Amino acid sequence: MSEKIAIVGSGLIGRSWAVLFARGGYRVVLYDVKEELMTQAMEVVQAQLHSLHESNLLLGRDPAECYTRVSTSTFLSSAVEGALLLQECVPEDVELKRKVFSELDTLVSDTTILSSSTSCIVPSKFTETLSHRSNCIVSHPVNPPHYCPAVEIIPAPWTTDLAKDKTISIMKQIGMKPVVAKKECDGFILNRLQYAVLQESWRLVEDGVCDPQDIDTVMTSGLGLRWSFIGPFQTIHLNAPEGVTDYAERYSDGIVRVSKQFGEPRHMTGETLEKVREYVEGEVPMDKHKENLQWRDGVLKQLAVFKQSIPDKP
Ligand SMILES: NC(=O)c1ccc[n+]([C@@H]2O[C@H](COP(=O)([O-])OP(=O)(O)OC[C@H]3O[C@@H](n4cnc5c(N)ncnc54)[C@H](O)[C@@H]3O)[C@@H](O)[C@H]2O)c1
Repeated sequence: MSEKIAIVGSGLIGRSWAVLFARGGYRVVLYDVKEELMTQAMEVVQAQLHSLHESNLLLGRDPAECYTRVSTSTFLSSAVEGALLLQECVPEDVELKRKVFSELDTLVSDTTILSSSTSCIVPSKFTETLSHRSNCIVSHPVNPPHYCPAVEIIPAPWTTDLAKDKTISIMKQIGMKPVVAKKECDGFILNRLQYAVLQESWRLVEDGVCDPQDIDTVMTSGLGLRWSFIGPFQTIHLNAPEGVTDYAERYSDGIVRVSKQFGEPRHMTGETLEKVREYVEGEVPMDKHKENLQWRDGVLKQLAVFKQSIPDKP
């Protein structure tokens, strides 16, 4: 029988994790404090498994067979019993994470990995006093995780190498691309990069350099196109005839000069917020929010399919 993964919290992210672990060949047990949400989750899991299969993104597995390995439990103790790893997916609130992890600590075996989906709370903030703290880690996915395979792995200072290596290996097995932080860092990696771009975008609009739509054009028709397959470091390496050292010699002074002007972070309020709101609500009306989410996920799915066909570098 395949090994078991427990999902604690079956909302948006919990459901996606269930799909991914089932795709990786594991048995999955979903738990939630709200029973009706687990029923909804099972419907979503079934639909997502079929959708991934249609796009050849189910690692060659049969969606119906994957679905038979997913179940629910109304008891936390039986959900986590004998689990290789549990993936916590409760709302982003440090007190709630502390409470849930304290309860889990009394239920898990000495070998179960306690992995949190938290987007920005470092693991030491909710695991320090636990008797199983050496098995605690963060595995932060990108939404929607079934089309965005990057997952940030953040060990606490007391997480063992064994727990870290096991988590990385499980994540790779289910088709994810783990990025491992060498130490805890507020905001992790993804959100620090996202916030840097967001802050500079805000400043450019607030200081009257450009309109909000220009920021989106620069990303969707410029930077983002390259970044979706080679990232910023390989981009600069290819942007100078002699590679990254040549790039640094040519452009580093300019980068430092401009970067010094970035200044204090801006609060997202006032006239700029109104300007940004007017623009985004014109493009993505609130009464079509759900349809636009589906549209976004559909495009991400097409990109995931396309990325499978990108040839290897020479
Ligand atoms: N939504 C995103 O884009 C995103 C992306 C990456 C990571 N995350 C992180 O994933 C986690 C979950 O986010 P989400 O968007 O899935 O939230 P969500 O609100 O969709 O789901 C949370 C679920 O947890 C359940 N829950 C609440 N208390 C519980 C408890 N004590 N025990 C078990 N279940 C409980 C709720 O009933 C709900 O079903 C958060 O830490 C969030 O930061 C979210």
